[in-house]
Amino acid sequence: MTPPIPDPVSVRRRLLRWYDRNARDLPWRYKKGDPPDPYRVWLSEIMLQQTTVAAVKGYFDDFTTRWPAVGDLAKAELNDVLHAWQGLGYYARARNLHKCAQAIAGERAGRFPDTEPELKALPGIGDYTAAAIAAIAFDRRATPVDANIERVTARLFALGDTLPKGRKKISERASLLTPKNRPGDFAQALMDLGAGVCTPKAPDCSACPLTPECLAAGQGEAERYPVKVAKAARPVRYGMVFWAVQGDGRVLLRQRPEKGLLGGMTEFPSTDWRKQIWSSAEAAKQAPVKGRWRRLDGVVRHTFTHFHLELTVLTAEVAIKREPEGALWSKPSGFSDHALPTVMKKIADHASRNVPGYSS
Ligand code: ADE
Ligand code: SF4
Repeated sequence: MTPPIPDPVSVRRRLLRWYDRNARDLPWRYKKGDPPDPYRVWLSEIMLQQTTVAAVKGYFDDFTTRWPAVGDLAKAELNDVLHAWQGLGYYARARNLHKCAQAIAGERAGRFPDTEPELKALPGIGDYTAAAIAAIAFDRRATPVDANIERVTARLFALGDTLPKGRKKISERASLLTPKNRPGDFAQALMDLGAGVCTPKAPDCSACPLTPECLAAGQGEAERYPVKVAKAARPVRYGMVFWAVQGDGRVLLRQRPEKGLLGGMTEFPSTDWRKQIWSSAEAAKQAPVKGRWRRLDGVVRHTFTHFHLELTVLTAEVAIKREPEGALWSKPSGFSDHALPTVMKKIADHASRNVPGYSS
């Protein structure tokens, strides 16, 4: 009987041989024979959900220098962790990272569990991360499916079902390929192949070790897979930000609620972010302090996962007798002591260029 295409045995042998020669040298990877440190595997996988390998390297080095073991991260102040996370996006992940470190250090004496169900019970660890840690750190036969693995698998099996519906089938096929031996290397090999050879727009099938086993390559139109449904356009929301300055140059800040978008981060107070444009007069009713609000020219734009945000800045000089609840006052030179998300850094930048008499 001839083996099916793709033949798992052949795919494993080809891909692992390729990986032995072509694996990327990444700070969280281990040389053959060195036991992996689950803390570093976990940390890198959480970070890599956010952004690219190139962007993560610096953050990974920074975190592991400051907090070399899970117990160190557990003892860190949440605010320091959020601060170090700045620029990686989704602060909920950083909060869960800290919570998870505390659960491991506290309830589990610093040891990560080594099975997918136990890993998934921890804060911030979902299907993908549990499978990645089980395979890479503990050599379990688990199948993490990230965007790279999804694409390579869809092509190998020429799976034309549209995403997101087709994801289940892709995962099932991917797990058919996972070997008992070196499952962590196999997963990382698929990631590296997806990042460097089987790329979204220009797969280089002639340089790929899997060409003889690949159905999409056989059809000659690999870039057709996986098929995605068109995304709905992101709506625009509008808000007005209050830049309230005291005579000594301190600016009003406040903390966002713990739950929700940018939870617990520091911000300049603003109106709600809504679908309709605000007039200055209408916005002034939501001002955190009394003042003669004047509108700055220009807008600040920022894009979140689910919407584009367009913010206009209102500024007033204020003389505060009674502090508004939850208020923080800081001179611009002290902003870096607060966990300001990127959108608020843009506001500070805009104000520094446009507020009359601005001083840092
Ligand atoms: N993306 C997510 N996890 C990764 C890993 N371990 N190596 C390379 N890219 C990745
Ligand atoms: Fe991707 Fe082409 Fe390799 Fe198939 S042969 S896995 S489509 S690069």
